[in-house]
Amino acid sequence: MVFPNLVIQAGIFAYAVSSATAVDITVSSTGGNATNGHQYGFLHEDINNSGDGGLYAELIRNRAFQISEGFPATLDAWHPINGAELSLKNLSVPLSDVLVTSMNVATPSEEGEVGFFNDGYWGMDVKASKTYSGSFWVKGAYSGQFTASLQSNTTGETFGTVNITSQSTADEWTEHEFELTPSNDAPSSNNSFALTFDASGIDEGSLDFNLISLFPPTYKGRKNGMRVDIAEALEGFHPTLFRIPGGNMLEGLTNRTWWDWKNSIGPLKNRPGFSGVWGYQQTNGLGLVEYLEFAEDIGMEIVLAVYDGLSLNGDITPEDQLQSYIDDALDEIEFIRGPVDSKWGAVRAELGHPDPWKLQYVEVGNEDWLSGAPEGWDTFKEYRFPMFLDALTEAYPDIQVISSGSNYDGYNIPKPAGGDYHVYATPDTLVSEFNKFDNITTPHIIGEMAAIHPNGGTGWDGPQQPYPWWGGTVGEAVSLIGYERNQDRIIGAAYAPIIRNMNRWQWAVTMIQFTADTVTKSTSWYLWELMAAHPMTETLPATSQFDPLYYVAGRNNQTSGHIFKAAVYNSTDGADVPVTLKFEGIVSATSGELTILTGPEDPYGDNDPYTGVNVVKTSKTTIRSDTSGTFQFDLPNLSVAVLDTSPLTTRRRIRAARGKW
Ligand SMILES: *[C@@H]1O[C@H](CO)[C@@H](O)[C@H](O)[C@H]1NC(C)=O
Ligand SMILES: *[C@@H]1O[C@H](CO)[C@@H](O)[C@H](O)[C@H]1NC(C)=O
Ligand SMILES: *[C@@H]1O[C@H](CO)[C@@H](O)[C@H](O)[C@H]1NC(C)=O
Ligand SMILES: *[C@@H]1O[C@H](CO)[C@@H](O)[C@H](O)[C@H]1NC(C)=O
Ligand SMILES: *[C@@H]1O[C@H](CO)[C@@H](O)[C@H](O)[C@H]1NC(C)=O
Ligand SMILES: *[C@@H]1O[C@H](CO)[C@@H](O)[C@H](O)[C@H]1NC(C)=O
Ligand SMILES: *[C@@H]1O[C@H](CO)[C@@H](O)[C@H](O)[C@H]1NC(C)=O
Ligand SMILES: *[C@@H]1O[C@H](CO)[C@@H](O)[C@H](O)[C@H]1NC(C)=O
Ligand SMILES: *[C@@H]1O[C@H](CO)[C@@H](O)[C@H](O)[C@H]1NC(C)=O
Ligand SMILES: *[C@@H]1O[C@H](CO)[C@@H](O)[C@H](O)[C@H]1NC(C)=O
Ligand SMILES: *[C@@H]1O[C@H](CO)[C@@H](O)[C@H](O)[C@H]1NC(C)=O
Repeated sequence: MVFPNLVIQAGIFAYAVSSATAVDITVSSTGGNATNGHQYGFLHEDINNSGDGGLYAELIRNRAFQISEGFPATLDAWHPINGAELSLKNLSVPLSDVLVTSMNVATPSEEGEVGFFNDGYWGMDVKASKTYSGSFWVKGAYSGQFTASLQSNTTGETFGTVNITSQSTADEWTEHEFELTPSNDAPSSNNSFALTFDASGIDEGSLDFNLISLFPPTYKGRKNGMRVDIAEALEGFHPTLFRIPGGNMLEGLTNRTWWDWKNSIGPLKNRPGFSGVWGYQQTNGLGLVEYLEFAEDIGMEIVLAVYDGLSLNGDITPEDQLQSYIDDALDEIEFIRGPVDSKWGAVRAELGHPDPWKLQYVEVGNEDWLSGAPEGWDTFKEYRFPMFLDALTEAYPDIQVISSGSNYDGYNIPKPAGGDYHVYATPDTLVSEFNKFDNITTPHIIGEMAAIHPNGGTGWDGPQQPYPWWGGTVGEAVSLIGYERNQDRIIGAAYAPIIRNMNRWQWAVTMIQFTADTVTKSTSWYLWELMAAHPMTETLPATSQFDPLYYVAGRNNQTSGHIFKAAVYNSTDGADVPVTLKFEGIVSATSGELTILTGPEDPYGDNDPYTGVNVVKTSKTTIRSDTSGTFQFDLPNLSVAVLDTSPLTTRRRIRAARGKW
């Protein structure tokens, strides 16, 4: 089907194809199950600068000299210009209660332009087509102007400059805002941001600076928002489910440093930052509201995880102290969806969001079966989860509460709660789990999943592939199809971790890789895009005869498409699999769009971000059913395919489906 020329010319291929028995599938027109409509999504957390320095668009690293238990304030990323002397100070008048340390810039002489530059998160993307929005706080008497510039960090060449008239005084902190449009593109991302002032205009020999920020244009123009190219790559696979705020990051290293949402809202000067769990200070810049706005902009349902008294070091909250965390979760839910006259709903309105956000899923904790074992998991089952479940269900009966472990982690999850299953595995394992959820009655999310180990790998600590690879992607496809077959109980699946900063990482396999100015979509991105582009509102009963062809059938009542999704994993002798597919009740000569993804000859082939070559081949053809409503086509070994009879384009199909849900 995909390579007709090859089939005709190469006798051996033609033989292989004709010798294989067709898989005969009949899809009933009734008797299916309604779906919830948000099967595909992702988990994002700030793993090794995929938040700060990644999705969060801030260009300045260490912008506010934040302090946490794990990390003292530093001058990292800051460099002097013209002999200025940079030092950290705790002034008697700090910028705010939580930003107590600032940078003092002392001038070496009484005149001349002095200041500092910041080299960002491994450089900065500088383009003449972009207008950068900056701000900084300064204290100290100064009459004159500040000059802000984007410049090459290697040659010193300036790409754009703006002068800002000083409003700064001796006694208080003053914010200065500016816009900077470069006059030319930088040739590489090896750039920095400089801020200078005229030494002759100051009284006391130095000025103090804090919260120095610079944003390129952001996704959907949100203030304090997301990096456009990364956000667009995410949006591009049509995700409809967003698990926030990460996994380990929620738990924190200790019960003093968990992801406290209350520190992540409001003006940036009120956000203290915290000890990140991935080896660096985090800013709290990418906070709860930013996550919610992002979900809203893309059209994603939220799975909100709340801290439940377990941290990565095994800190466990005793039963008699747990209530404060339950209250905290209730406050957070009220902040997200409570009425404007509620305490936290009013805070939301004050921050510019009178309308509540939608929140249907709340997950208690993250991987409670893992940290502090066995007490962590035991206390979760004994009192932590039951206490949260009771309180949340009583306050919000319509919310689906989710346990951070699944039935497979040895927990008979009490009703009406759901579970969360995580799988990082070999492709063979993902294929073997095709049926895993067929008999489960408890709703589950697949809160984290990805193929990461090659077949034959030895579990968690075994070798990992450098990037998602085609064979792994097809393994994921088989599991995803298994989840879709059970869409009445599988709330959705989240790829994790989703993005990776190529400059600083420890976790290899992510859907999207990026640097300061590049974004690379992996083989798995193409799979998830295809699957998510064809949402079903209803699964339909179909002949069940699997291996090597795995499939699910259904339809969408908004697009009126009949849908068939399939993957071929290890066909006999690598031959194409002929498929005969009959949808009961469809008229003859119904046309369908058949999309087939195939990979490189080497199943270990991947999309290497250093070459940017995409190894996934996409073929789209229009095929017609015969008089009995039957479609016929061949699917190659290691391929993924979707047949959809909706006449709409992908864009309109997704919009139609979203309108419904
Ligand atoms: C379409 O499907 C959804 C989800 O299964 C269901 O809630 C809705 O009632 C259906 N709408 C129509 C018009 O059948
Ligand atoms: C500022 O105060 C913090 C404690 O709040 C302290 O840890 C830090 O050492 C102080 N820094 C300076 C430069 O004095
Ligand atoms: C930028 O230049 C400074 C020295 O001028 C250097 O210390 C720093 O490593 C450079 N930054 C990057 C990202 O190369
Ligand atoms: C900024 O001010 C300096 C000194 O007055 C001047 O030379 C320069 O042209 C100004 N730059 C811009 C972009 O206005
Ligand atoms: C920036 O340039 C320096 C010096 O040439 C080099 O060592 C560094 O790797 C470059 N950084 C980036 C991000 O290109
Ligand atoms: C924090 O962890 C410590 C050590 O495990 C424990 O003693 C304490 O009760 C915990 N506090 C809270 C509020 O969870
Ligand atoms: C589900 O139940 C059916 C019928 O009892 C059984 O044949 C099948 O093996 C079960 N599947 C799993 C994955 O347990
Ligand atoms: C984050 O990435 C760096 C650079 O690859 C690595 O050295 C570090 O161990 C990673 N952090 C963690 C917590 O693994
Ligand atoms: C619908 O759900 C029921 C109950 O979970 C299940 O037995 C049946 O196989 C499902 N049908 C389809 C088409 O998924
Ligand atoms: C096709 O399937 C066979 C197993 O039958 C497998 O060994 C082979 O690697 C696959 N072929 C390709 C081109 O990936
Ligand atoms: C599929 O083929 C690959 C490559 O030959 C092999 O590594 C894997 O174990 C096979 N898996 C199954 C389930 O046959």
